[in-house]
Amino acid sequence: MQQKPTSADKTWSGRFSEPVAELVKRYTASVEFDRRLAEFDIQGSLAHAAMLEACGIIQAGDRAAIRSGLAQILEEIRAGQFEWLLDLEDVHLNIEKRLTAIVGEAGKRLHTARSRNDQVATDVRLWLRASVDQIAGLIEGLQAALLDLAERHADTVMPGFTHLQVAQPVTFGHHLMAYFEMLKRDGERMRDCRKRINRLPLGAAALAGTSYPIDREMVARELGFDGVCENSLDAVSDRDFAIEFSAAAALVMTHLSRLSEELILWMSPRVGFIDIADRFCTGSSIMPQKKNPDVPELVRGKTGRVTGHLMALLTLMKSQPLAYNKDNQEDKEPLFDTVDTLVATLRIYADMMGGITVKPEAMRQAAFQGYATATDLADYLVKKGLPFRDAHEVVALAVRHAEGKRCDLSELELDALRAFSPLIGDDVYAVLTLEGSLNSRDHIGGTAPAQVRAAIQRGRQYLATF
Ligand code: ARG
Repeated sequence: MQQKPTSADKTWSGRFSEPVAELVKRYTASVEFDRRLAEFDIQGSLAHAAMLEACGIIQAGDRAAIRSGLAQILEEIRAGQFEWLLDLEDVHLNIEKRLTAIVGEAGKRLHTARSRNDQVATDVRLWLRASVDQIAGLIEGLQAALLDLAERHADTVMPGFTHLQVAQPVTFGHHLMAYFEMLKRDGERMRDCRKRINRLPLGAAALAGTSYPIDREMVARELGFDGVCENSLDAVSDRDFAIEFSAAAALVMTHLSRLSEELILWMSPRVGFIDIADRFCTGSSIMPQKKNPDVPELVRGKTGRVTGHLMALLTLMKSQPLAYNKDNQEDKEPLFDTVDTLVATLRIYADMMGGITVKPEAMRQAAFQGYATATDLADYLVKKGLPFRDAHEVVALAVRHAEGKRCDLSELELDALRAFSPLIGDDVYAVLTLEGSLNSRDHIGGTAPAQVRAAIQRGRQYLATF
């Protein structure tokens, strides 16, 4: 931050008898972070100026000057040559002052029928809309990576868990497709909150509207908004669209945090279901043998900060009287960090899915160990006429017996099994195999490999609609 503007440059100098204290200036300024909105601020100003001219509020010459001045400023910003001044508080005043320095009088007319209150709300909405579109695309990219991995493992058997205890066999493809579904809802949430982001606050001015004959619909069209915010007080003050987005973002992170937890568990040598490519892991500075799943661990950790940002925004809003309050300046950093964290996480995750090596033998062994087909035996007995509750008890006794023998149900002799129920015949072994168990769950949403393939097929069709 450099050269101080002269007192004539001060936006509200007339009203004040002493300059703002240095510390206060630094405390209240937002330019260090809101300069990130610059391109959207310029976009908004161009649309505003076009409308002012169309409505006869400024002259064509002024609008032309504003347009060329803003184009030059955009170039300066992109080239890294723009001088951002802390004294000018925020992105809006920095750009406006520079515009006036370049084009003179016309630059001073740009702020007619506008306030920074409706201006900043517009900028944030434009920026967030672009971010949501980017994030929705990245979610789809990760979904495509999940489909690829799931397709390779539509038949790979693994233990399915409840309470982290072996429950029933599932396929690894089926397990991955559960995350596909979560991400599908996440993508829907993004696209849904976009509708409420995509409304134009400009025209609300400071809080009450403006006395100029403006055309808000025109500005909305120019900027690609679906319509205007219909109450000026609401337009400048609420940030619910940002909160809603943050909630959707926190859910994406929460889903990825769960997947991360599983990847970490699966990669632990004690479990050994998968390996993660070296480029996503690091070693230890002291233990030469270590290979740590840093990326999933960090995703799990960063979920906390995104959820924290959601809490920050909710808290920011909860006690604000209408309309705009400076509190709202605090919406930006949590929002920016949420988007940055989510974008980086989704990118790296899609790549990491391609870097997973599956160890089918270890998965099969684990599925074999926890009496994962016990429910199948109960179902078998039910199909032979036994009520389910009785079948449940028969199988519980059989499992206890097998446990004593340290073997699987499928390893018990037919006679041993028949001791628990005379309904058991030698066709029982077909249902006690892992494959028999998988194949029998053959309905939409079930883990039968044929159903997993069908789900993957539907997933590909779904992604093709974007
Ligand atoms: N930097 C401010 C913000 O981010 C812009 C709006 C300031 N408006 C005001 N009346 N002080 O919210």
